[in-house]
Amino acid sequence: MKVGIIGGTGNMGRGLTIRLALRHDILVGSRSLVKAGTIAKNLKNVARGFYLSDLEGSIAGVLNADAIEGSEVVIVCLPAKYSLLTLEGLKEYLTPEKVVVSTVVPMTRKEKLFYWTPLEEGEDPGFGERSASESIQEIVAPSPVVTAFQTVPAAYLNNIDAVLNVDVLIAGDDDLALAKVSKLVRDIPNLRPLRVGPLVNSKWVESITPLLLNAAVLNGLHDPTIRVIPWMPSEE
Ligand SMILES: NC(=O)c1ccc[n+]([C@@H]2O[C@H](COP(=O)([O-])OP(=O)(O)OC[C@H]3O[C@@H](n4cnc5c(N)ncnc54)[C@H](OP(=O)(O)O)[C@@H]3O)[C@@H](O)[C@H]2O)c1
Repeated sequence: MKVGIIGGTGNMGRGLTIRLALRHDILVGSRSLVKAGTIAKNLKNVARGFYLSDLEGSIAGVLNADAIEGSEVVIVCLPAKYSLLTLEGLKEYLTPEKVVVSTVVPMTRKEKLFYWTPLEEGEDPGFGERSASESIQEIVAPSPVVTAFQTVPAAYLNNIDAVLNVDVLIAGDDDLALAKVSKLVRDIPNLRPLRVGPLVNSKWVESITPLLLNAAVLNGLHDPTIRVIPWMPSEE
């Protein structure tokens, strides 16, 4: 697949690029072509050196608009605060068949702890009622939005040696879009896509991240993530 990453130069964008490039062609999007080119070149070197002849995909640095135009799946890796305004400025490059993936977690930190703080459009987005994914859906419609990767720390993705072995919760309303995103997730070795219902459930997915971060702060954990384990009755 051709995958464009908006804000692809950041922590999450770089992590997803390096993992997805194993099987897919990645356009690392940025507001700066120079920045995108430099980061794409570095990531390409890492991918070539690590995957060797297993590398099937490619990595190129482009402007955010070109990342959207050149791809069938567009992953939004922008800080929550800037995601809605940035997408307002880029939505003209979307077409209805492109799938938009939101990794966005709208949250704030008060003293030591983290809180889910939903977004609304406006000059100073924040403190709305809907999840970031639903707010993004309103902007990018009719392109379908899929919620994914909120509970996967960028640090895991960027550590190319790390065996991930974690679940990716996926929410959305469009079956075809969900199938595409599930395939992308499965193409990252040891990541498992788990569907958790319609887009309206994104708020529950997004709000797990501040809980995990609070678990880290309060219990001395590093980069906590989730894996859903089925309960099995004891044989005894
Ligand atoms: N970090 C994690 O572990 C993690 C895990 C799960 C989900 N997420 C979510 O992923 C998203 C990205 O997180 P991140 O840690 O990768 O963020 P980040 O590194 O702080 O920023 C990502 C990119 O956003 C662009 N950007 C920054 N300010 C901007 C602005 N004012 N307008 C437009 N673009 C701007 C920058 O790209 P250019 O300067 O190149 O344009 C930057 O490289 C967030 O919504 C976060 O909640 C993060």
